[in-house]
Amino acid sequence: MQANVLDNIELAPHYYRLSLHCPPLAHSVKPGQFVMLKVSQAYDPLLRRPFSIHRVDGELVQILYQVVGKGTKLMSQLRPGEALDVLGPLGNGFGLQAGIKQAILVGGGVGVAPLLFWAQELGRQKIKLLVFVGGKNRVDLLALDDFRQLGARLYLATEDGTAGYSGRVTDIVADYLSSGESTAATAVFACGPKGMLAHIAGLAERYVLPCQLSLDVVMACGVGACMGCVVKSSHAGDYIRVCKEGPVFEAARIAWA
Ligand SMILES: Cc1cc2nc3c(=O)[nH]c(=O)nc-3n(C[C@H](O)[C@H](O)[C@H](O)COP(=O)(O)OP(=O)(O)OC[C@H]3O[C@@H](n4cnc5c(N)ncnc54)[C@H](O)[C@@H]3O)c2cc1C
Ligand code: FES
Repeated sequence: MQANVLDNIELAPHYYRLSLHCPPLAHSVKPGQFVMLKVSQAYDPLLRRPFSIHRVDGELVQILYQVVGKGTKLMSQLRPGEALDVLGPLGNGFGLQAGIKQAILVGGGVGVAPLLFWAQELGRQKIKLLVFVGGKNRVDLLALDDFRQLGARLYLATEDGTAGYSGRVTDIVADYLSSGESTAATAVFACGPKGMLAHIAGLAERYVLPCQLSLDVVMACGVGACMGCVVKSSHAGDYIRVCKEGPVFEAARIAWA
């Protein structure tokens, strides 16, 4: 399907927010799902790139992205009025178990991208939001005002100490969980680098909390055909396709070691 670029704003060095007018996508996509974008009309790069949906507002769909290579560099040059080829929505998305009243959302860097859309939905369902955001430095802490506007309580961490707690975001999640503050009827949702997700999976297991993690892996087709995105399942010998069976998984379903 075609989407029209409304704007493409640089929020911080290397971080952009792309706003697309795309009614069919806006009306069908669920939090945690993703799209495969053809970032350029040219042959190179040939493959589409996967991106989570960051926010939906009416017919508008936003993508929050970090420039890391050729495709995202080309994306950062998209201008209002340009058309973009979009495949999606793809993947499964987040889900809310019955009885949950409080959600702990943990985002590492651009990993906050799918969590804002999910927080919008959780807010509509009157779920209390505790949002933990971490990065290497303050520039990596994204969408903070958007989470605040949803009434979320924010906890920040930077590895260089330029904002919030000085250290890793997993440290402040661990502190919160060990503080004895209520974790009854609480679920954990996270997206970020693999090491962070493995740590969060361990904490959720220790405190017996339901936990869903959105995995970020390199993808080629995005629709289950190439097996390029498989990860090891916790069932010995099994592999799962992140694009088709995910990208959101119950933490216990993945072999983290
Ligand atoms: C389901 C899903 C959702 C995603 N959502 C977002 C999002 O909302 N915002 C965002 O900024 N990024 C997101 N990503 C990651 C994004 O797809 C990649 O950053 C992008 O494809 C890189 O393209 P490139 O051409 O710029 O980089 P390339 O030139 O292809 O690669 C540049 C460098 O980045 C590494 N890289 C490429 N893809 C990934 C990846 N998926 N994970 C980790 N490292 C990678 C490469 O190994 C290389 O070192 C998502 C990935 C997945 C699988
Ligand atoms: S990216 Fe091709 S099977 Fe997942």
